[in-house]
Amino acid sequence: RMPLLEQCYNLYDFEAVARQVMKRTAWGYYSSGADDEITMRENHTAFQKIWFRPRILVDVTEVDTSTTMLGTKCSIPFYVTATALGKLGHPEGETVLTKAAGKHDVIQMIPTLASCSFDEIVAAADGKQTQWFQLYVNKDRKITERIVKHAEQAGCKGLFITVDAPQLGRREKDMRAKFSDIGSDVQKSEDPDAIDRSQGAARAISSFIDPGLSWKDIPYFQNLTKMPIVLKGVQRVDDVIRAVDHGVTGVVLSNHGGRQLDTAPTGIELLAEVMAELRQRGIQDKIEVYIDGGVRRASDIVKACCLGAKGVGIGRPFLYAMSAYGEKGVSRAMQLLKDEFVMNMRLIGARTIDELTPDLVDTRGLNVH
Ligand code: FNR
Repeated sequence: RMPLLEQCYNLYDFEAVARQVMKRTAWGYYSSGADDEITMRENHTAFQKIWFRPRILVDVTEVDTSTTMLGTKCSIPFYVTATALGKLGHPEGETVLTKAAGKHDVIQMIPTLASCSFDEIVAAADGKQTQWFQLYVNKDRKITERIVKHAEQAGCKGLFITVDAPQLGRREKDMRAKFSDIGSDVQKSEDPDAIDRSQGAARAISSFIDPGLSWKDIPYFQNLTKMPIVLKGVQRVDDVIRAVDHGVTGVVLSNHGGRQLDTAPTGIELLAEVMAELRQRGIQDKIEVYIDGGVRRASDIVKACCLGAKGVGIGRPFLYAMSAYGEKGVSRAMQLLKDEFVMNMRLIGARTIDELTPDLVDTRGLNVH
């Protein structure tokens, strides 16, 4: 029997339920990572290499978790990151995430490849909540121009250009699930797309992405929109410096949840390296640095903030909560994170996000160069 929602006490519990109740194809698409899934696993374990250095006897009666990301206020430094194909998990798709995010004053990033239309996801918002837009750049720039302008007019407060996916990674769980379900049709079909579909959901939907995207295109996007531009999927320190030189507002240190290049570095380890370099150059205030990948506990978020992240993105846990329990599930997942976050701040002796400083963490266990 399916556990009651109240029996989910942490984000892993939602994953366990989702695994039981989701369709094989949907589970395959959401849960898969690239190749041997080494990066996907490491994303979470990397956080466990960081230890706290709690400060005692601080009056933590009042704790304020609110912060700003890209200039807008929000209740806590995490956001719902962009994940494609929400309707695989729930008939109302991404709007389920929108509603839960609205209740919790959490920012949502709308994916280019949402199952709901962009307008539906904007309409599901409560009018006050902040939404960002994640862009996969189309080979046909006219299409990209149209959707970016539309996102800006609809009030999106940030443009996240995904830069780690010139080609989609190879996710074998997704491919196998797809193949076993539709394999017989594929063999019969004359449809040229059938080959693509046998490669899994991910590859079937991504053939429009422009592998020619390069640094030369950044000024084009800066001219196209007034939305702050953030590069999502940066994986090297020198690329962060280049991003600063190009005048973008932010970067997300991310390996796409371990779905792209296997054995790519984790966001949290890269963060330590990036912030050290930015501080050394005295340019740490020139760019907002975000990370995503493997965030499952509020302590992970606290650690990222201590190391200098403005915020973190969370992907799969909200998809699992949505697939298992709908909006109430996502809302409970967010509340659990909020409760854990306040507790963690009290226990390390920090009252505000500004008080989350590097001295509160011991990073000697990280593989930092
Ligand atoms: C993603 N991610 C993603 N990123 C992006 O820029 N565009 C997209 O369409 C998608 N789609 C997508 C689908 C699914 C099912 C997953 C799990 C992920 C990557 C996502 O934004 C983020 O980088 C990771 O999900 C973060 O890792 P966790 O939180 O899932 O561990």
